[in-house]
Amino acid sequence: MKTIHVGLFGLGTVGAGVVKSLITNEEHIASRTGFRVQVKHALVQSFVKERSVSVPAEFLTMDAQTILVDPDISIVVEVMGGVEPARTYICAALLARKHVVTANKELLAKHGPELMALAAHMGVRLLFEASVGGGIPIVRTLQAYLTANRVSSIRGILNGTSNYMLTQMQVKQVTFADALMDAQRLGYAEADPQSDVEGYDAAYKLLILSNMVFPVQSTLNDIKRKGIVDITPDDIDFASQVDCVVKLIAQASYVDGCVHLDVSPRLIDRLDPLATVRDVFNAVTVSADVVGDLTFIGRGAGEMPTASAIIEDIVEVLRSPRTSVQPLEQHKAVGQDEQVEFLK
Ligand code: NDP
Ligand code: HSE
Repeated sequence: MKTIHVGLFGLGTVGAGVVKSLITNEEHIASRTGFRVQVKHALVQSFVKERSVSVPAEFLTMDAQTILVDPDISIVVEVMGGVEPARTYICAALLARKHVVTANKELLAKHGPELMALAAHMGVRLLFEASVGGGIPIVRTLQAYLTANRVSSIRGILNGTSNYMLTQMQVKQVTFADALMDAQRLGYAEADPQSDVEGYDAAYKLLILSNMVFPVQSTLNDIKRKGIVDITPDDIDFASQVDCVVKLIAQASYVDGCVHLDVSPRLIDRLDPLATVRDVFNAVTVSADVVGDLTFIGRGAGEMPTASAIIEDIVEVLRSPRTSVQPLEQHKAVGQDEQVEFLK
């Protein structure tokens, strides 16, 4: 059985989850795909930092070239975050004809089109399921399934940190600062948590979804954005007195040829299904003309839900007919099985 070597840019919360889940599920993935998937190197900033996964010393590198020039590595997973140097490294990986899987919504919201164009030009995949909704498979659903529908709106909770904080403030009456510290300890928050509490993170995700489903392409400047930084215990109390809860709601709608994008805290009636989406959970309701409303709920952040989205993208690369990691015979075998499954 062929072994596929993966290179990681980053071994923090998400990177560690990817390593752990690939080890735990190695046999299972092999039995489903016909490939063994193993991480060969991880790019980090420090060799002495304590990590939640134990790895041999030669596994870590502080030089991106170790991954970029290694001919054994055919798939690169970018889980370091931020725009630079992530953008430069992803471009270099694509130019080296490596497939790229990323969780980096900020980078995609700011430079997605150019990176997609480069991937298409080089004939490799650039997949980003983990960038929106953590473990919820919303990206692939919109890309691969809802193509025959006209989507009119996307509405939901797209930031796990702020939803966790609002839930803690509502249920346990903890302060904003304590709730944020807790979310950071649990690995939900961004390296700069202002991105979570100011609504930027939800805005990045909303833009990624909006540009996938609407015929008009938007930019971050088109989004009206307000975070949860001004929400006080009094606001939470008031919401409760009027049978509501406070939620950070991201909404994109397509009306008369125009896209409207908004991220802001809203009062949500207790009977609204979104009111019951608590803690780190995210929810996305997609309204489409043929199917009607579809709602997806799941853990929107954290080590393992995000790792799940990443490894599903790795498997998607392995299954892709265009994937150069597959020797022809293996490729045929996987493709035929899939067709048989599909025809059953
Ligand atoms: P962490 O901060 O936990 O990890 C970042 C990792 O990248 C660390 O291992 C760090 O090295 C490494 N790194 C950062 N900058 C550099 C650099 N310049 N050179 C080399 N290595 C670098 O982040 P997360 O794992 O939480 O998030 C990673 C990405 O996934 C981000 O884009 C985030 O938005 C996204 N994401 C995160 C989710 C979550 O729940 N945490 C959910 C969905 C997406 P070192 O360890 O040595 O410091
Ligand atoms: N900081 C992000 C959140 C991570 O809390 O939703 C998941 O994208």
